[in-house]
Amino acid sequence: MQDTQNHLTSLPEKGRSWEEIEAELHGFKEMDLDEEVHLRLLTGIHKGDDRVHEVCRKAYMMYFHTNAMLADYHPGQRRIQSEVLGMAVRLLGGGDEARANITTGGTESIFCAMHAAREWARATRPDIPEPYQIVMPQTAHATINKAAHYLDMELVRVPVGPDLRADVDALEAALTPSTLVLVGSAPCWGFGLLDPIPEIAALAEQHGLWMHTDCCVGGYLLPFMERLGIELEPYDFRVPGVTSISADLHKHGYAAKPCSTVLYRNEELQNFHWTGVAISDWQSGMYRTHGVVGSRPMAAVAAAWAVMNFLGEDGYVDLTRRALQVKDRMIAGIEAIEDFRCLPNESLLIPFRSETLDMLKVMGGLVENGYFPWGTFDPIYVHPSAEPVDDVVVETFLSDLGHIGKGVRDGNLTAEALAKYI
Ligand SMILES: Cc1ncc(COP(=O)(O)O)c(C=O)c1O
Repeated sequence: MQDTQNHLTSLPEKGRSWEEIEAELHGFKEMDLDEEVHLRLLTGIHKGDDRVHEVCRKAYMMYFHTNAMLADYHPGQRRIQSEVLGMAVRLLGGGDEARANITTGGTESIFCAMHAAREWARATRPDIPEPYQIVMPQTAHATINKAAHYLDMELVRVPVGPDLRADVDALEAALTPSTLVLVGSAPCWGFGLLDPIPEIAALAEQHGLWMHTDCCVGGYLLPFMERLGIELEPYDFRVPGVTSISADLHKHGYAAKPCSTVLYRNEELQNFHWTGVAISDWQSGMYRTHGVVGSRPMAAVAAAWAVMNFLGEDGYVDLTRRALQVKDRMIAGIEAIEDFRCLPNESLLIPFRSETLDMLKVMGGLVENGYFPWGTFDPIYVHPSAEPVDDVVVETFLSDLGHIGKGVRDGNLTAEALAKYI
């Protein structure tokens, strides 16, 4: 059955040919924003380059239908998974005692870390009264709100300093007897800035709290920036008070979605990750999953393993160098237009704003020109994210932004198109 706009409203009575279906899918794709040029820098596609993408795709297809829920029962899959986790642990400063789990994304990694913290407190910290609090800088990712909601924890967002990084004194002032977790981002989404993780972790240690570094964006990027000689404050298990880390392979690890990792400083802490997930009181025997989800694609894990092996440390360093070059060209090009200025940061994000143009109209102009208006509202920025893309992607963006800047200055553009997205 179809409605007046020819949308399907129930299962078709009879099947259709692949040719017909393929044509219709192409039609749907054409209705969407263009991923190859307009979205490459504006929605976190994270393809790496064409060679990486091809390896990722081929490995994904080899395990297309395989359910990683059962990976532990297959020696091959178990090995792929444990090698990915081993590589993750070493990259993020973990020693032999550190442990990790695969998840389907930053949201699940963060949920699992907050869940482990809660179970750890219930088992070992009768002195902390529930509901437990998660105290974090205002800039920490929205998905932590979801974890707090599902886990019946309270979320306390604390204003950041004038440099938009966590204000550690303000975090300390926000602590209460119920505070259980402190969070810092490396880097935060939106501004691409590293919070002072060593100071947040020291505060956590001083108060006996769980400290989580949200490295979803930085986990597979910052280590390679450091290998390029860029000096960064440490953000991972090299910092003694860091208890857990979330790091997304499907972002700058250039793996296929959905794939992320959650890391624990040691096995004792990881044990709380497993609390409640081994179920035996039903008719089908023991049910034990790696995280929140049950069935999950082995294809994404195999693709991550393949990309990590294909690139190796050298390949990641090279992709990072090329992405940083794109970032530099974008910054130079953006700052050459009107009076746009970029916010310096330690990531591939390129937040830019104008002091004189109405940024809502700039965002509206981006929407009208086929872009997704990725940005922040307080303070207001638009933030592409650099990738090792072809010149045409950078040139198209800069040329379109030039026209948009002029259009706003001349009074020809409004913010109306933005309503589609906010
Ligand atoms: C810093 C940070 N944490 C967590 C997340 C959530 O990740 P996901 O979308 O993979 O669930 C994101 C997503 O962009 C992020 O930037």
